[in-house]
Amino acid sequence: MVHPDGFEPPTLCSEDRCSNPLSYGCITEIIISRMAILSYNNDRMKIHTKIPLKNYTTMKIGGNARFITEVRNGDEVAMVCRNAKKQKLPIFIIGSGSNVIAKDEGFNGIVVRIRITGFEVISDDILSTTIRIGAGEQWDSVVKRIVDMQLSGIEAMSAIPGTAGATPIQNVGAYGQEIADTLQSLEAYDIENDTFVTLQDTECGFSYRNSIFRGDESGRYVITSITIKLSKNQPQPPFYESLQKYLDERNIKIFTVAVIRNAVIDIRKEKLPDPKILPNTGSFFKNAIVENWQLEDLRKVNPNIPMYDMGDGHFKVPAGWLIENVGLKGSLISGIRVYDKNALVLINESAKSYQDLANARDEIIGKVRDKFRVQIEQEPLEI
Ligand code: EPU
Repeated sequence: MVHPDGFEPPTLCSEDRCSNPLSYGCITEIIISRMAILSYNNDRMKIHTKIPLKNYTTMKIGGNARFITEVRNGDEVAMVCRNAKKQKLPIFIIGSGSNVIAKDEGFNGIVVRIRITGFEVISDDILSTTIRIGAGEQWDSVVKRIVDMQLSGIEAMSAIPGTAGATPIQNVGAYGQEIADTLQSLEAYDIENDTFVTLQDTECGFSYRNSIFRGDESGRYVITSITIKLSKNQPQPPFYESLQKYLDERNIKIFTVAVIRNAVIDIRKEKLPDPKILPNTGSFFKNAIVENWQLEDLRKVNPNIPMYDMGDGHFKVPAGWLIENVGLKGSLISGIRVYDKNALVLINESAKSYQDLANARDEIIGKVRDKFRVQIEQEPLEI
């Protein structure tokens, strides 16, 4: 039987069944959700209640979300956001949960999973092709498709978990490329003004692992698509240091986008654990940005410290190196393992809660600060 509002009637469920992400929560929440949010006639969109966020995040930690729903187009985004706003319900947007951490107390609002698909060539000339991609597309499928088209610009960002729409949020980057290099514009729903907008790359405030979407305008926009411009030129050396080393060691001299993609996939396999097997969020810390005098201090302690000159008087110092050099690589803190192949990655081995993760994080940050007088920061966002 389908309810007149277009939704299947909820089945009453016990607390146990509430932990099943596909079941509805308790009846009270269903009544509230019907009144509060399900006031539109759409038989595809379902709102689930009391859903454990640990099932929706690759770190596998966190309490319940009061509501979770999935949206498949811009209209659904607008409907959910409008209704949530009317009911004063906080909104949190997720893609595939590979760069977000949920707290033990859960989220007393609505989590909206973006499932908007789409892959459309919007212009093409002798030098470049511009493509619009739905925010919910899996990023690595997009990279594969673009590499198969022999287009260059994102091949070094291969095998990164997550969705296309999440890439501008933290200006995702790897092996010398970042989304800011290819992004032309993006489309988003502006929750504040209840309208759809197109933002040009220059309006996104991109910097290292940052943008307006996690900075000043955090929570305002829901990205529905990104438009990226790819080059028809094949990639040229020199490549990012570890990538170049990999290619040199194998005497690879012909560089195509497919060669670079395969090399990156191989390197990542070694250094970045598969979140489906070992729960993690990729880099758990941002690299430290230091000034010249701090770098001089660090060099006094260790003259061989790796660093990257950002060209503006600042230097990027790898957090993985700092953590390894306080002796924490491979150690287990409160059930969280500092990955033995890459100290930048934290794995949830047996942590019971967000608090366990926070204990491990704070201990690592504290040890790095005590030894090097450098502050490192968590990279994933928190629900
Ligand atoms: N290093 C160590 N010990 C470690 C890890 C790294 O000494 O345990 C040293 C390496 O030897 C190297 C330097 O740190 O000299 C930099 O390491 P790497 O080239 O592996 O890159 P990263 O700075 O650690 C960043 C991104 C990764 C991205 C790689 C490759 C951040 C926070 N992380 O890591 O992004 O894949 O570069 O481009 O910027 C992610 O964001 O989830 C992510 C994996």
